[in-house]
Amino acid sequence: MSLLRRWPPILRALLAQALAFAAVVALARLGLRFPGLVWVLLQAVLAVYLARGFELNPRWILIQAALPFLVWLLWGAPVPPWIYLALFLALALVFGGGLLTRVPLYHASRDAWAKLEALLPEGPGQRFVDLGCGFGGPVAHLAKAHPEGFFLGVEASPFSWFVAWLRCLPRPNATIRLGNLWRVDLSGFDLVYAFLSPVPMSTLWAKAVREMKPGSRLVSHSFEIPGTAPQRVIPVAGRDGARLLVWEMERSAEGYQPSK
Ligand SMILES: C[S@@+](CC[C@H](N)C(=O)[O-])C[C@H]1O[C@@H](n2cnc3c(N)ncnc32)[C@H](O)[C@@H]1O
Repeated sequence: MSLLRRWPPILRALLAQALAFAAVVALARLGLRFPGLVWVLLQAVLAVYLARGFELNPRWILIQAALPFLVWLLWGAPVPPWIYLALFLALALVFGGGLLTRVPLYHASRDAWAKLEALLPEGPGQRFVDLGCGFGGPVAHLAKAHPEGFFLGVEASPFSWFVAWLRCLPRPNATIRLGNLWRVDLSGFDLVYAFLSPVPMSTLWAKAVREMKPGSRLVSHSFEIPGTAPQRVIPVAGRDGARLLVWEMERSAEGYQPSK
Protein backbone atom coordinates (compact mmCIF):
# COMPACT_ATOMS: atom_id res chain seq x y z
CA MET A 1 0.00 0.00 0.00
CA SER A 2 2.89 2.40 0.74
CA LEU A 3 4.14 1.83 -2.83
CA LEU A 4 0.65 2.62 -4.16
CA ARG A 5 0.57 5.85 -2.17
CA ARG A 6 3.48 7.11 -4.24
CA TRP A 7 1.58 6.57 -7.50
CA PRO A 8 0.04 9.66 -9.13
CA PRO A 9 -3.68 9.99 -8.28
CA ILE A 10 -4.71 9.38 -11.90
CA LEU A 11 -3.13 5.91 -11.83
CA ARG A 12 -4.65 5.06 -8.42
CA ALA A 13 -8.05 6.21 -9.70
CA LEU A 14 -7.75 4.04 -12.82
CA LEU A 15 -6.68 1.07 -10.72
CA ALA A 16 -9.72 1.53 -8.43
CA GLN A 17 -12.06 1.55 -11.45
CA ALA A 18 -10.33 -1.45 -13.03
CA LEU A 19 -10.48 -3.55 -9.82
CA ALA A 20 -14.12 -2.56 -9.26
CA PHE A 21 -14.92 -3.55 -12.85
CA ALA A 22 -13.16 -6.91 -12.41
CA ALA A 23 -15.28 -7.56 -9.27
CA VAL A 24 -18.49 -6.61 -11.12
CA VAL A 25 -17.63 -8.93 -14.02
CA ALA A 26 -16.83 -11.76 -11.56
CA LEU A 27 -20.22 -11.31 -9.84
CA ALA A 28 -22.00 -11.39 -13.22
CA ARG A 29 -20.13 -14.59 -14.13
CA LEU A 30 -21.30 -16.14 -10.84
CA GLY A 31 -24.83 -15.76 -12.17
CA LEU A 32 -26.03 -12.65 -10.33
CA ARG A 33 -28.67 -10.77 -12.33
CA PHE A 34 -29.48 -7.08 -11.71
CA PRO A 35 -30.92 -4.23 -13.77
CA GLY A 36 -28.21 -2.22 -15.59
CA LEU A 37 -28.41 0.73 -13.22
CA VAL A 38 -27.74 -1.49 -10.20
CA TRP A 39 -24.54 -2.77 -11.82
CA VAL A 40 -23.47 0.81 -12.43
CA LEU A 41 -24.21 1.69 -8.82
CA LEU A 42 -22.21 -1.32 -7.67
CA GLN A 43 -19.26 -0.28 -9.85
CA ALA A 44 -19.39 3.25 -8.36
CA VAL A 45 -19.62 2.02 -4.76
CA LEU A 46 -16.72 -0.41 -5.18
CA ALA A 47 -14.57 2.19 -6.95
CA VAL A 48 -15.23 4.74 -4.18
CA TYR A 49 -14.42 2.16 -1.51
CA LEU A 50 -11.13 1.27 -3.21
CA ALA A 51 -10.29 4.94 -3.88
CA ARG A 52 -10.64 5.67 -0.17
CA GLY A 53 -8.32 2.75 0.55
CA PHE A 54 -5.84 4.21 -1.97
CA GLU A 55 -6.00 7.54 -0.08
CA LEU A 56 -7.36 9.60 -2.95
CA ASN A 57 -8.64 13.02 -1.95
CA PRO A 58 -12.39 13.92 -1.88
CA ARG A 59 -12.28 15.44 -5.39
CA TRP A 60 -10.97 12.20 -6.87
CA ILE A 61 -13.49 10.18 -4.86
CA LEU A 62 -16.31 12.26 -6.34
CA ILE A 63 -14.94 11.55 -9.81
CA GLN A 64 -14.83 7.83 -8.97
CA ALA A 65 -18.51 7.93 -7.99
CA ALA A 66 -19.60 9.91 -11.05
CA LEU A 67 -17.55 8.16 -13.73
CA PRO A 68 -19.56 4.88 -14.01
CA PHE A 69 -22.82 6.87 -14.34
CA LEU A 70 -21.29 9.12 -16.97
CA VAL A 71 -20.07 6.15 -19.00
CA TRP A 72 -23.51 4.50 -18.64
CA LEU A 73 -25.28 7.66 -19.83
CA LEU A 74 -22.98 8.05 -22.84
CA TRP A 75 -22.95 4.32 -23.71
CA GLY A 76 -25.76 4.33 -26.25
CA ALA A 77 -25.54 8.03 -27.13
CA PRO A 78 -24.99 8.82 -30.81
CA VAL A 79 -21.49 10.28 -30.29
CA PRO A 80 -18.89 9.26 -32.92
CA PRO A 81 -16.11 7.26 -31.21
CA TRP A 82 -13.34 9.53 -32.51
CA ILE A 83 -14.71 12.34 -30.30
CA TYR A 84 -13.65 10.38 -27.20
CA LEU A 85 -10.19 9.78 -28.62
CA ALA A 86 -9.83 13.45 -29.60
CA LEU A 87 -10.97 14.59 -26.14
CA PHE A 88 -8.59 12.19 -24.44
CA LEU A 89 -5.65 13.31 -26.60
CA ALA A 90 -6.43 17.01 -26.05
CA LEU A 91 -6.62 16.55 -22.28
CA ALA A 92 -3.44 14.46 -22.25
CA LEU A 93 -1.58 17.07 -24.29
CA VAL A 94 -2.57 19.95 -22.00
CA PHE A 95 -2.69 18.29 -18.60
CA GLY A 96 -0.80 15.02 -19.14
CA GLY A 97 2.43 16.20 -17.53
CA GLY A 98 0.56 17.58 -14.53
CA LEU A 99 -1.52 14.44 -13.96
CA LEU A 100 1.51 12.21 -13.87
CA THR A 101 3.73 14.57 -11.90
CA ARG A 102 0.97 15.91 -9.60
CA VAL A 103 1.78 19.46 -10.70
CA PRO A 104 -1.22 21.16 -12.30
CA LEU A 105 -1.08 23.93 -14.91
CA TYR A 106 -1.68 27.43 -13.59
CA HIS A 107 0.11 30.65 -14.27
CA ALA A 108 2.08 33.25 -12.34
CA SER A 109 0.65 36.78 -12.57
CA ARG A 110 2.34 39.68 -14.39
CA ASP A 111 3.15 41.07 -10.95
CA ALA A 112 5.04 37.84 -10.19
CA TRP A 113 6.96 38.20 -13.50
CA ALA A 114 7.98 41.75 -12.52
CA LYS A 115 9.09 40.70 -9.04
CA LEU A 116 10.98 37.76 -10.50
CA GLU A 117 12.74 40.19 -12.82
CA ALA A 118 13.88 42.22 -9.80
CA LEU A 119 15.53 39.05 -8.45
CA LEU A 120 17.77 38.58 -11.51
CA PRO A 121 21.40 39.42 -10.82
CA GLU A 122 22.62 42.76 -12.16
CA GLY A 123 24.70 43.04 -15.31
CA PRO A 124 24.56 41.22 -18.64
CA GLY A 125 24.62 37.47 -19.21
CA GLN A 126 22.19 36.39 -16.51
CA ARG A 127 21.09 32.77 -16.83
CA PHE A 128 17.55 31.88 -15.76
CA VAL A 129 15.57 28.65 -15.83
CA ASP A 130 11.83 28.09 -15.26
CA LEU A 131 11.33 24.46 -14.18
CA GLY A 132 7.88 23.60 -15.54
CA CYS A 133 7.37 26.72 -17.64
CA GLY A 134 3.70 26.13 -18.58
CA PHE A 135 2.73 28.57 -21.35
CA GLY A 136 6.06 30.37 -20.94
CA GLY A 137 4.88 33.71 -19.48
CA PRO A 138 7.84 34.32 -17.14
CA VAL A 139 10.46 33.21 -19.72
CA ALA A 140 8.97 35.37 -22.49
CA HIS A 141 8.72 38.41 -20.23
CA LEU A 142 12.27 38.14 -18.86
CA ALA A 143 13.81 37.36 -22.25
CA LYS A 144 12.19 40.47 -23.72
CA ALA A 145 13.26 42.69 -20.81
CA HIS A 146 16.87 41.37 -20.82
CA PRO A 147 18.03 40.70 -24.38
CA GLU A 148 21.58 40.11 -23.11
CA GLY A 149 20.59 37.26 -20.75
CA PHE A 150 19.74 33.60 -21.42
CA PHE A 151 16.34 32.24 -20.45
CA LEU A 152 15.37 28.57 -20.47
CA GLY A 153 11.94 27.03 -19.92
CA VAL A 154 11.43 23.30 -19.50
CA GLU A 155 7.96 21.81 -19.86
CA ALA A 156 6.65 18.22 -19.79
CA SER A 157 3.20 18.72 -21.34
CA PRO A 158 3.46 18.85 -25.15
CA PHE A 159 0.67 21.36 -25.72
CA SER A 160 1.96 23.77 -23.04
CA TRP A 161 5.47 23.35 -24.42
CA PHE A 162 4.20 24.24 -27.91
CA VAL A 163 2.42 27.39 -26.68
CA ALA A 164 5.54 28.49 -24.75
CA TRP A 165 7.76 27.70 -27.74
CA LEU A 166 5.56 29.79 -30.07
CA ARG A 167 5.48 32.62 -27.53
CA CYS A 168 9.26 32.69 -27.25
CA LEU A 169 9.97 32.33 -31.00
CA PRO A 170 10.70 36.06 -31.39
CA ARG A 171 13.27 35.89 -28.54
CA PRO A 172 16.64 34.50 -29.66
CA ASN A 173 17.81 34.54 -26.04
CA ALA A 174 15.01 32.19 -24.91
CA THR A 175 14.87 28.42 -25.30
CA ILE A 176 11.83 26.29 -24.53
CA ARG A 177 12.65 22.63 -24.08
CA LEU A 178 10.15 19.76 -24.08
CA GLY A 179 11.28 17.49 -21.29
CA ASN A 180 11.55 16.62 -17.66
CA LEU A 181 12.70 19.29 -15.21
CA TRP A 182 14.52 16.66 -13.14
CA ARG A 183 16.96 16.17 -16.03
CA VAL A 184 18.04 19.83 -16.10
CA ASP A 185 21.49 20.51 -14.64
CA LEU A 186 21.03 23.57 -12.42
CA SER A 187 24.73 24.37 -12.05
CA GLY A 188 24.81 26.90 -14.89
CA PHE A 189 21.98 29.18 -13.69
CA ASP A 190 21.95 32.35 -11.60
CA LEU A 191 18.22 32.13 -10.92
CA VAL A 192 16.25 28.89 -10.78
CA TYR A 193 12.49 29.40 -10.65
CA ALA A 194 9.75 26.83 -10.05
CA PHE A 195 5.98 27.07 -9.59
CA LEU A 196 5.10 23.44 -8.91
CA SER A 197 3.14 21.97 -5.97
CA PRO A 198 3.91 20.90 -2.39
CA VAL A 199 4.64 17.34 -3.59
CA PRO A 200 8.09 17.72 -5.23
CA MET A 201 9.52 20.52 -3.04
CA SER A 202 11.78 18.34 -0.84
CA THR A 203 13.18 16.62 -3.94
CA LEU A 204 13.68 19.98 -5.62
CA TRP A 205 15.57 21.23 -2.60
CA ALA A 206 17.87 18.19 -2.59
CA LYS A 207 18.58 18.80 -6.29
CA ALA A 208 19.22 22.52 -5.72
CA VAL A 209 21.64 21.81 -2.87
CA ARG A 210 23.50 19.29 -5.03
CA GLU A 211 23.71 21.35 -8.19
CA MET A 212 23.28 25.09 -7.71
CA LYS A 213 26.36 27.30 -7.62
CA PRO A 214 27.25 29.66 -4.78
CA GLY A 215 25.64 33.06 -5.13
CA SER A 216 22.72 31.73 -7.19
CA ARG A 217 19.07 31.98 -6.17
CA LEU A 218 16.26 29.49 -5.95
CA VAL A 219 12.76 30.97 -6.18
CA SER A 220 9.60 29.00 -5.56
CA HIS A 221 6.23 30.49 -6.42
CA SER A 222 4.01 29.94 -3.37
CA PHE A 223 5.25 26.52 -2.26
CA GLU A 224 7.49 26.05 0.75
CA ILE A 225 10.33 23.63 1.19
CA PRO A 226 9.63 21.56 4.31
CA GLY A 227 12.12 22.37 7.07
CA THR A 228 14.05 25.02 5.09
CA ALA A 229 13.00 28.62 5.64
CA PRO A 230 13.52 31.03 2.73
CA GLN A 231 15.55 34.20 3.28
CA ARG A 232 12.86 36.32 1.68
CA VAL A 233 9.15 36.11 1.04
CA ILE A 234 7.73 38.52 -1.54
CA PRO A 235 3.93 38.75 -1.84
CA VAL A 236 2.66 38.82 -5.43
CA ALA A 237 -0.72 39.46 -7.01
CA GLY A 238 -2.75 36.39 -7.92
CA ARG A 239 -4.43 33.71 -5.87
CA ASP A 240 -4.76 34.07 -2.11
CA GLY A 241 -1.34 33.68 -0.49
CA ALA A 242 0.58 33.97 -3.78
CA ARG A 243 4.22 34.84 -3.05
CA LEU A 244 7.77 34.27 -4.15
CA LEU A 245 9.98 32.42 -1.67
CA VAL A 246 13.68 33.12 -2.18
CA TRP A 247 16.67 31.03 -1.09
CA GLU A 248 20.20 32.40 -1.59
CA MET A 249 22.53 29.47 -2.20
CA GLU A 250 25.96 29.50 -0.55
CA ARG A 251 28.69 26.99 -0.05
CA SER A 252 29.15 25.28 3.33
CA ALA A 253 31.05 22.23 4.54
CA GLU A 254 28.13 20.01 3.48
CA GLY A 255 27.78 21.52 0.03
CA TYR A 256 25.66 24.39 -1.20
CA GLN A 257 23.26 25.56 1.46
CA PRO A 258 20.99 28.55 1.88
CA SER A 259 22.78 31.51 3.50
CA LYS A 260 21.49 32.38 6.99
C1 LIG B 1 2.00 25.71 -12.07
S1 LIG B 1 2.58 25.56 -13.72
C2 LIG B 1 3.72 26.91 -13.72
C3 LIG B 1 3.84 27.61 -15.04
C4 LIG B 1 4.89 28.73 -15.08
N1 LIG B 1 6.17 28.29 -14.53
C5 LIG B 1 4.44 29.97 -14.34
O1 LIG B 1 5.05 30.29 -13.30
O2 LIG B 1 3.50 30.64 -14.81
C6 LIG B 1 3.62 24.11 -13.53
C7 LIG B 1 4.04 23.48 -14.84
O3 LIG B 1 5.03 22.51 -14.55
C8 LIG B 1 4.90 21.45 -15.50
N2 LIG B 1 5.60 20.27 -14.97
C9 LIG B 1 5.24 19.52 -13.90
N3 LIG B 1 6.12 18.55 -13.69
C10 LIG B 1 7.08 18.68 -14.65
C11 LIG B 1 8.27 17.96 -14.96
N4 LIG B 1 8.66 16.91 -14.24
N5 LIG B 1 9.02 18.40 -15.97
C12 LIG B 1 8.65 19.47 -16.72
N6 LIG B 1 7.52 20.17 -16.48
C13 LIG B 1 6.75 19.79 -15.46
C14 LIG B 1 3.40 21.28 -15.62
O4 LIG B 1 3.06 20.62 -16.83
C15 LIG B 1 2.92 22.74 -15.59
O5 LIG B 1 2.84 23.27 -16.88
